[in-house]
Amino acid sequence: MSFDLQLKGLRALVTGGTKGIGAAVVQGLHAAGVQVMTTARAVPAEPNAGVSYVAADLSTAEGVAEVARSVRERWGGVDILINVLGGSSAPGGGFAALDDAQWFDALNRNLMPAVRLDRALLPAMLAQGSGVIVHVSSIQRLLPLPESTTAYAAAKAALSTYSKALSKEVTPKGVRVLRVSPGWVETEASVALAERLATQAGTDYEGGKQIIMQSLGGIPLGRPAKPQEVADLITFLVSPRAGSISGSEHLIDGGTVPTV
Ligand SMILES: NC(=O)c1ccc[n+]([C@@H]2O[C@H](COP(=O)([O-])OP(=O)(O)OC[C@H]3O[C@@H](n4cnc5c(N)ncnc54)[C@H](OP(=O)(O)O)[C@@H]3O)[C@@H](O)[C@H]2O)c1
Repeated sequence: MSFDLQLKGLRALVTGGTKGIGAAVVQGLHAAGVQVMTTARAVPAEPNAGVSYVAADLSTAEGVAEVARSVRERWGGVDILINVLGGSSAPGGGFAALDDAQWFDALNRNLMPAVRLDRALLPAMLAQGSGVIVHVSSIQRLLPLPESTTAYAAAKAALSTYSKALSKEVTPKGVRVLRVSPGWVETEASVALAERLATQAGTDYEGGKQIIMQSLGGIPLGRPAKPQEVADLITFLVSPRAGSISGSEHLIDGGTVPTV
């Protein structure tokens, strides 16, 4: 059976596309024949041939405006907008360790880039009567970990609620809006974290992975997802083959969330 995703020639902007999940998404879309533009604060030393890179800090309104300007100058608009950028560098220590700066950092990394970029690029999608937007959230919006990710989890919850509201508003006008919520994904950054935890606990990398999995209450599948697996899900969801899917959240967590 052939399964043509019918993505060839479409125009996509992917945020956070130089590492981890975003880099896998960029690669997957490019391989599917999509014209891809991506953003990060730094252009990689070995950029993906055929992919356009725009260096900008998307935690600021100016950075978002710069990226939106590049999209308009090059293409006029996009067919696919994938908001991958997000993350947290908050310290451990629960609520008391989270000052205003930590809270604003969580919102400026996980909520506002998507809100601002959607606002800038949606009008052209609405004018053409088609488009798809993905917001990469996290299972932590359902399963917050109080030791160090309260602000991150709350920002992802805000992103998810915003995404649902947007889908209600623009799906009737031809634009699909979706959420993809990964559990633990074995990116370069999380490999480094597992290695650090392993060293601290005097164990090996597999032991470090077990520490992370235990902190999540276990992963029934027994392993984290691979960035490529998250990218494959997103690539399908943005394709015309998923044309009747909108307003929904898609968990990819090996069964981590223990409830229905
Ligand atoms: N990894 C996981 O286990 C996991 C689990 C659940 C959800 N998620 C979510 O999945 C998404 C991707 O996570 P990841 O772990 O794959 O990310 P990552 O490996 O940390 O990569 C982050 C990307 O965003 C860029 N970036 C960071 N800060 C930026 C800024 N201020 N402005 C513009 N670009 C910026 C980075 O490049 P520069 O550093 O050069 O800017 C990089 O390309 C995030 O939304 C995250 O919350 C991840």
